[in-house]
Amino acid sequence: MPDLSINFAGIKSPNPFWLASAPPTNSGYQVMKAFDAGWGGAVWKTLGVPVVNVSSRYGSMNYRDKRMVGFNNIELISDRPLSDNLREIEEVKKRFPHHAVIASLMVQSRQEWHDIVRDVQNAGSDGIELNFGCPHGMCERGMGSAVGQEPAVLQTIVEWVMEVARIPVIVKLTPNISDITEPAMAARRGGADAISLINTIQSIVGVDLDLFAPYPIVDGKGSNGGYCGPAVKPIALNMVKNCAQHPDVRLPISGIGGIENWRDAVEHILLGASSVQVCTAAMHFGFGIIREMTSGLEQYMKEKGFHTIYDMVGKALPNVKHWEDLNLKYKVTATIHEEKCIGCQLCYTACEDGAHQAIRLNAGTRVPEIIEDNCVGCNLCSLVCPVEDCITMDRRDDGSEQLTWKERTAAGTIPTEFNDERAGGRHHWVPEPAAALNKEKHKTLPGKARQYAESATALEPAPHGAGGSE
Ligand SMILES: Cc1cc2nc3c(=O)[nH]c(=O)nc-3n(C[C@H](O)[C@H](O)[C@H](O)COP(=O)(O)O)c2cc1C
Ligand code: SF4
Ligand code: SF4
Repeated sequence: MPDLSINFAGIKSPNPFWLASAPPTNSGYQVMKAFDAGWGGAVWKTLGVPVVNVSSRYGSMNYRDKRMVGFNNIELISDRPLSDNLREIEEVKKRFPHHAVIASLMVQSRQEWHDIVRDVQNAGSDGIELNFGCPHGMCERGMGSAVGQEPAVLQTIVEWVMEVARIPVIVKLTPNISDITEPAMAARRGGADAISLINTIQSIVGVDLDLFAPYPIVDGKGSNGGYCGPAVKPIALNMVKNCAQHPDVRLPISGIGGIENWRDAVEHILLGASSVQVCTAAMHFGFGIIREMTSGLEQYMKEKGFHTIYDMVGKALPNVKHWEDLNLKYKVTATIHEEKCIGCQLCYTACEDGAHQAIRLNAGTRVPEIIEDNCVGCNLCSLVCPVEDCITMDRRDDGSEQLTWKERTAAGTIPTEFNDERAGGRHHWVPEPAAALNKEKHKTLPGKARQYAESATALEPAPHGAGGSE
């Protein structure tokens, strides 16, 4: 049986799944309910001098039939008195001594930092997370992302905290910055034990077309908020990877952003996270999602032969290269599997208008055909095809050759002039511009592409979304 437990910079937890600092960790009631359901840890809703929140706080990005693909909030830190939170942290720790309770903090002066760090330590917190990430409201007051965007200030505050901290300190970073490794390195210089990322991305999630105001609307007005949920996972993964790969960061990473199931969590772990935090998914589906997360992770670890979480931390990092190190000799092209095709012709439209005119339509069938000579292997058709594995990208080179841009640069064989013969697309066929207006455009095709075209009569593509074969 794989061991899911972790020791994250000294914070022990029965599994790597923590609730992120947010509404699901606003009270002892919620945290205990979550622990009871199976969560390994919780980062308490950020504590500080309590705030006053607006009503109407969340907006969402719905995409087609999917609700809350992205989620946006203009909520601030906890609006509950500190003493209530401290009492509840103490109670949770008494009932769940082996679960991780991490106090998220955000205050201003050195004295306030000292006081609140001591308070949460005395309440029995296992760790502290410094919220240098909130990108709305608090940053206008010089806190949150205003600190995360200034590495020197961030370092100073971490140093203040470390003067009194007796438990592990995690620095939570803002993604609203051009290079996330700068504040990560500042956290290390300040003496932090770990980093967590990402907090939310500054955003406007939509505009009401009648009221002319951004969502969420507060009495006819709105403000930028913080974006999170499934839509932000790619940004979070990239930033986790950047920190994990940087030789001068070298801190344990708690991965946050778009984690909804065990697969998302594993992706964060493979890119370097050794604990993961979840907010939006718990707000959307409740604490019960933890059951699928732990059993899915356990099953995956069994299948891969991983005994502990640490066997998989950063496992994908050696395969994340700079572009210049990728093999230019690797070649794939698309294959349409006729038996699976529903004839929607989305692939044709995508390749024709958005890629390389490498798919054609033939009379008498709605199944398109790949013109292999023209296919650059961009993947677009396989991405738009609504049927799983109907279009596969298949390797065409024999794997014997390896040549990177870096090697070509060293060998002096890269294009250096505007009309260089060595340009990648130099000898790749494209239609004559006038063919765009000519329904019989195959007449302009050269060579092999023309042979293909002459054996077929072009059909007009079906309207988008039309399914089924003729
Ligand atoms: C409504 C809401 C309130 C939040 N409040 C806090 C907070 O008080 N402190 C904090 O560090 N992060 C806060 N966050 C950010 C989350 O902890 C987390 O970093 C972010 O939502 C990304 O994770 P997700 O994609 O799983 O939601 C909040 C997020 C939401 C949606
Ligand atoms: S996109 Fe539509 S037409 Fe193209 S291969 Fe897939 S199912 Fe067939
Ligand atoms: S992989 Fe790209 S170029 Fe090739 S057929 Fe598909 S969309 Fe066209």
